[in-house]
Amino acid sequence: MLVEQNVPLQSLNSFGIAARAASLVRVRTEGDVRAVLSDPVLGGQGKFVLGGGSNIILTGDVKQLVLKVETLGRRVLEQTERHTIVEAGAGENWHDFVTWTLDQGLPGLENLALIPGTVGASPVQNIGAYGLELQDRFDSLDAVDLATGELFSLDAAQCGFAYRDSVFKHPPAAATYPGELPRSMGLAGRALILRVRFALPKAWKPVLGYLDLERRMQEEGVNRPSARQIYDWIVSIRRAKLPDPAVIGNAGSFFKNPTVTPEQCQDIIGRDPKVVHYPMADGSIKLAAGWLIDACGWKGKQVGNAAVYDKQALVLINRGGSEHPATGGEVMTLAKAIQTSVYERFGIRLEPEPVVV
Ligand code: EPU
Repeated sequence: MLVEQNVPLQSLNSFGIAARAASLVRVRTEGDVRAVLSDPVLGGQGKFVLGGGSNIILTGDVKQLVLKVETLGRRVLEQTERHTIVEAGAGENWHDFVTWTLDQGLPGLENLALIPGTVGASPVQNIGAYGLELQDRFDSLDAVDLATGELFSLDAAQCGFAYRDSVFKHPPAAATYPGELPRSMGLAGRALILRVRFALPKAWKPVLGYLDLERRMQEEGVNRPSARQIYDWIVSIRRAKLPDPAVIGNAGSFFKNPTVTPEQCQDIIGRDPKVVHYPMADGSIKLAAGWLIDACGWKGKQVGNAAVYDKQALVLINRGGSEHPATGGEVMTLAKAIQTSVYERFGIRLEPEPVVV
């Protein structure tokens, strides 16, 4: 086990924020985690698990021991009556994994193509796009409990998935740890995900219905697209709308799309008839946060080197590149100003989507 000291994190977070880790260990096997946990010095230190760094905002140097997850491997694990179960190491790149499943002739993840980050981070925020969420294809995962060193597995119910949310984003509910993992138990900072399994449907049906996809189908005169066709469309739609983090630093959507009651929505429609809104199965209404921010005139606005992307107001970007990167403080100042202005105009509190460290 190699412990790296004073490690620059700028290339390890997709926003490109310059910060350092006091110490960092690369986790390539379960044995690496055990070695850290049983080490007399490292074992007792606070730990921060880092995946692809595509959903974090660093507001300063990281004093905890950074565990950079690099567990690799992809395989078809088993066939059940209705699904093919595939497994991938948490350190695998998400998009490469999606591409690999299609290359194996296994459709099901195509709507989630080109989402930045790693396989291990995908259940943490229950990634979703174009009508599909990770939870729709999730089977189970293996993780190490950083407090006890125990290896444990969780199924979908135990992960407590919700919109851009899971048990991994919530702090542990209790100081003591009873061995069993109740669904409601928060696991933030507690679990290091090693590998994830996905259940890909044998009777595959395309997930369509999202406006951008419907538009593509019409434009190209295709009414029964293949999984590969959808994959290609998603890649091209994302490239047109969202900044490539390799070119312009960003952390994807910065805020969650808020939900409101039908009465609140009617009130907003009364004042702003064009507000983009979607009725949800539970009777609530989801509003497009990007539209709300855009309506407040934020596109292209800047605080220091943190800015609002001019093609999608929901995405904050690093306008200073690697030479003069935005600081975490600038990003959070901009985010707070946006929250205030959306609250003042619409009475809605936007909740950040990335994890602020
Ligand atoms: N809109 C505007 N102005 C803007 C941005 C959006 O008017 O500046 C309007 C759009 O015209 C559209 C609506 O708002 O009518 C929704 O926009 P879009 O289709 O781009 O999707 P989104 O709700 O902004 C969500 C996810 C994205 C995901 C897309 C596609 C969240 C927080 N974001 O964005 O996820 O790719 O849908 O499914 O749910 C991410 O999580 O990092 C992410 C990029």
